[in-house]
Amino acid sequence: MLYKGLIEKYREYLPVNAKTPVVTLNEGNTPLIFSEDLSHELGLKVYLKFEGLNPTGSFKDRGMTMAISKAKEKGATTVMCASTGNTSASAAAYAAKCGMKCAVLIPDGNIALGKLAQAMIHNAKVIAIRGNFDDALNLVKTITEKYPIELVNSINPFRIEGQKTAAFEICDSFGDAPEFHAIPVGNAGNITAYWKGYKEYHSAGKSKTLPKMLGFQAAGSAPIVLGHVVDKPETIATAIRIGNPASWKPALAARDESAGLIDAVTDDEILSAYKRLASGGVFTEPASAASVAGILQLHKKGFFDHVKGSRIVCTLTGHGLKDPNIAIKNVGQPVTLNADIKEILKEVGL
Ligand code: F0G
Repeated sequence: MLYKGLIEKYREYLPVNAKTPVVTLNEGNTPLIFSEDLSHELGLKVYLKFEGLNPTGSFKDRGMTMAISKAKEKGATTVMCASTGNTSASAAAYAAKCGMKCAVLIPDGNIALGKLAQAMIHNAKVIAIRGNFDDALNLVKTITEKYPIELVNSINPFRIEGQKTAAFEICDSFGDAPEFHAIPVGNAGNITAYWKGYKEYHSAGKSKTLPKMLGFQAAGSAPIVLGHVVDKPETIATAIRIGNPASWKPALAARDESAGLIDAVTDDEILSAYKRLASGGVFTEPASAASVAGILQLHKKGFFDHVKGSRIVCTLTGHGLKDPNIAIKNVGQPVTLNADIKEILKEVGL
C-alpha cells in the first residue's frame, strides 16, 4: 500500500479527526540501521534510527506534519518558530506545502548553511537576531501570544504528538521496545516525545517493555546536566546550542521514570563519533552524533558491562548534508592533480 505519511499510519494514536486537513510530505518510516562496528565494540546490538532521511532531512518533520495540519484545521494563515535551523527548515517546507506564511527567528551566525538555504528556498521570512536560540524562543512566545500567529516550536503539544511516532516505528520493527534508547538533547522536545510514544505503545499492549532513556547534551550547553540555565551556551553542534530547554521538566520525567540518565559529551567526543559514523557509511550532522558519543562514553565507564547483548537504538536526528562546511573542515580538501592517469594511479595507491 502507498505510504501516506505518519498521520495516516498512526491516526488512531494522534489527535486528528476526519476533518483535519493532513499536510504531509510523507515523513516518517525511516530506517533502523544495524551498526556492526558499534555492536562489536560495545557488545550490544546497536541500531541507528536515521531521522536524516525525513523529507527535510531531520526528525522535525514528524512534529511539523502534525503542527501544521492542526494549525490549518484551526484556520491559521501564518506560523512562526525560533530555531537552531532544522525546525525552521521543516516549518518552512510544510507551510509552503499548504500555502501558509512562515516566519522564523534564528541566532545570527550560528546556523548551518544547508538549514538556512532550506528556509529561504521555501520562501519563509527568515530573521537572524543578534542573540541565541533562547532569546529567539522568548521573542516568538511573546509575539505568538499577542498576534494571530501559530507557534510551531515543540512547546506546541502537536509537535510532540507527531514526534512520538518514531518510538512506535521502532517498536513495530522489533515487536517490542529496545532495552536502551540514546538521543541528543537540545530543547528537550524529542526525548519527551519518544518517552511518551514508548509509554503509549506499552499501555496499548503493542510492546511488553519500556526502554531506559539515555539523553546527551553538549558539554558547553548542558543545562539539564548542570541543573541550571546556561546563559551563554557553546558547542560546535549548533543544533543543540541551547541554554534553557523548553521541555526541561518532561525530559527529567523521561529520565527518571525510565531509570535512565541525561549526561554531557564534549565537542571532541561529538566530532569523533560524527567521523566514525561517516566512516561506517552514515552521514549525520554533529548534534546527531551526540547519541553515539554518549554511548561510547558510557561503554568506557563500564555502564553496559552487565547488559551485554541488549538492544540499543541511537536516534540520528539530522542529515550530514545540512552542514557540509563542518565536514570539509574536519577532513580537509580533496587533492588536485593533472588529468593524468599515472598521477591518479599513484594517488590511489595502485
Ligand atoms: N538534533 C538536531 C539535529 C536538532 O536540530 C535538534 C534540535 C536536536 C537534536 C535536539 O532536539 O530540541 O527536541 O531536544 N533542533 C531545534 C531546532 C532546537 O530549532 O531545529 P530537541
